[in-house]
Amino acid sequence: MTTFVTLEQIDQAADAIRERISTRPRVGMILGSGLNSLADSVQQAVTIPYRELPNWPISTVHGHTGQLVIGELEGQSVFVMQGRIHFYEGYSMSQITLPVRVMLRLGLEMMFVTNAAGGVNPDFVPGDMMLITDNLNLIGMMGANPLMGPNIDELGPRFPDMSQAYDRELMALARQVASSEDLPLREGVYCALSGPSFEGPADLRFLRMAGADAVGMSTVPEVIVARHGGMRVLGLSGISNKANLDGSTITTHEEVIEAGTIITPKVEKLIRGVLRSL
Ligand code: HPA
Repeated sequence: MTTFVTLEQIDQAADAIRERISTRPRVGMILGSGLNSLADSVQQAVTIPYRELPNWPISTVHGHTGQLVIGELEGQSVFVMQGRIHFYEGYSMSQITLPVRVMLRLGLEMMFVTNAAGGVNPDFVPGDMMLITDNLNLIGMMGANPLMGPNIDELGPRFPDMSQAYDRELMALARQVASSEDLPLREGVYCALSGPSFEGPADLRFLRMAGADAVGMSTVPEVIVARHGGMRVLGLSGISNKANLDGSTITTHEEVIEAGTIITPKVEKLIRGVLRSL
């Protein structure tokens, strides 16, 4: 049975957070595999382990610390999820996106999401940073959409538009920051699959034909829920491995985490720059 989260459960978690902070965060961030050290730079930080929050899903994956870090970064009041929860961990789509709904109830205006992804575009190499301009919701097309189940009208409409899932102004800001800070920035379409197995060569050839530039196991459900509630979204992928369209190399979680250490400084610089210019 699929578990659908209720507004009451969302508000229980939101209230538990509100009790522990005195600021009103403006920007939410979900930091992906190997990319979550930015949370350590948050000032006046209030840290809340996920396990202390009611109804909050707990991450089980190596490389994902499970805590919220709320404070100041580059003059902005931020709400950072250090570690995300994935669909493949066994939670429902509704459960993995509860944190985003909590962001909505706390009045956040924007959400920045980062992830580690396989490079499907043959020009991409491990270590590249990609601005997500759109996504391929294959996981949703297969019936796993986080908005399935009763619509929570207080959060958004039954049939939300997704024509501009990634905010044009935030993308423009990211490009400006990248160019002024000399950060090479790729752009492309991120495709979400459920995982946890990596793709095979035929999967990858199919994804390339379908228009994917990068592939991963997250982000799109969170973005849909954020857009449902009207938050503006910025998405960044760190390309951690080259998709293996001919089956000649293997992909491991270790290389994904390892590449994170190369990508992290770039992603951090870009996010800091965007925060400064908001
Ligand atoms: N495929 C899916 N998810 C990923 C990959 C990949 O190659 N790399 C990092 N996350």
